[in-house]
Amino acid sequence: MKNIAILCSGGDVSGMNAALKRFVDYAFDQGMRPFFVENGYEGLIDNKISAAAYSDVAGIISIGGTKIRTSRSERFKESSYRQIALENLREHGITGLVVLGGDGSFKGMQKLSEECNDIGFIGIPSTIDNDIAGTQYCLGVDTALNAIRVAIDSIRDTASSFGRAFVIEVMGRECGYLALVSALTSGAEMCLIPEVPYNLEVYKEEFLEEKEQGRSYFIAIVSEALKNTEQIVQWFEEEIAIESRMTVLGHIQRGGIPTVHDRLMAFHFVTTAIDALREGIKSTVVCYDDGMFLCKDIKDVAFKKYMIDEDLLALGKEFESPQHKQV
Ligand code: F6P
Repeated sequence: MKNIAILCSGGDVSGMNAALKRFVDYAFDQGMRPFFVENGYEGLIDNKISAAAYSDVAGIISIGGTKIRTSRSERFKESSYRQIALENLREHGITGLVVLGGDGSFKGMQKLSEECNDIGFIGIPSTIDNDIAGTQYCLGVDTALNAIRVAIDSIRDTASSFGRAFVIEVMGRECGYLALVSALTSGAEMCLIPEVPYNLEVYKEEFLEEKEQGRSYFIAIVSEALKNTEQIVQWFEEEIAIESRMTVLGHIQRGGIPTVHDRLMAFHFVTTAIDALREGIKSTVVCYDDGMFLCKDIKDVAFKKYMIDEDLLALGKEFESPQHKQV
């Protein structure tokens, strides 16, 4: 019987627990023995590896976060600790490891795979940032977008009641994907992200005209990557002469009940990963590309710069030069 393990690394996402459930169920179904590694690469170094049972995943599908915990490991960057991690996997007879994580986690996985040839490593893109090259979707993104949507819809209620501008900062690290999709789908008046050039003078002209015509409030979505949220609040106060507030959504974007989409994506990602391990694939990342789940070389995923889809950026053009909207 083949022993396979799974761990979560980096920022947690809603949908990881659904992935753990599928991992255990499908591994047994395929005649494999599933193991959990607790606390990411840290747990791999500390030998926190244990056999998983059906009972471990009962009732977790609807819970956000990850039951087996996650971490960002500094020690794992050192070869000596990676050697310990490999020995721990071998001690449990593990011949395949599935890593749920983002770019940094896959770089660590790549190093590990270069240092041994008796264990297979398969990554599953899991980050709310949706910033991994080679895949159009990362686990957790849909739940995060819905958490943001709920927050913006609520803020709109108070913004419109008071006649204020709200500047809402959205996560995404260096990537504006979450901010752009949220701004488009919540009807925000302003969206500032690194990928779309913007001109505050153009916004000013537009907003003053709209105010003149009766617009009483504004919703602005700003990517955390730009690090200028407070300045934009001040800009609204001084240039648009409207009372303004800032809301940093923060870690509420990372939690919550996983959406149906994320549960289903978790199932597909894990199924493809286990199939790849069964077929003996040694080092790869499962990517979602044009409706298909494909195994891609880690080097084409973790070491390439992610670019937001052209079609989405085209929609974002409206924020580059906001057109006058009749109010
Ligand atoms: O990568 C996921 C993410 O949530 C980013 O969007 C954010 O910048 C970062 O992690 C926050 O990290 P931490 O949870 O360590 O504060």
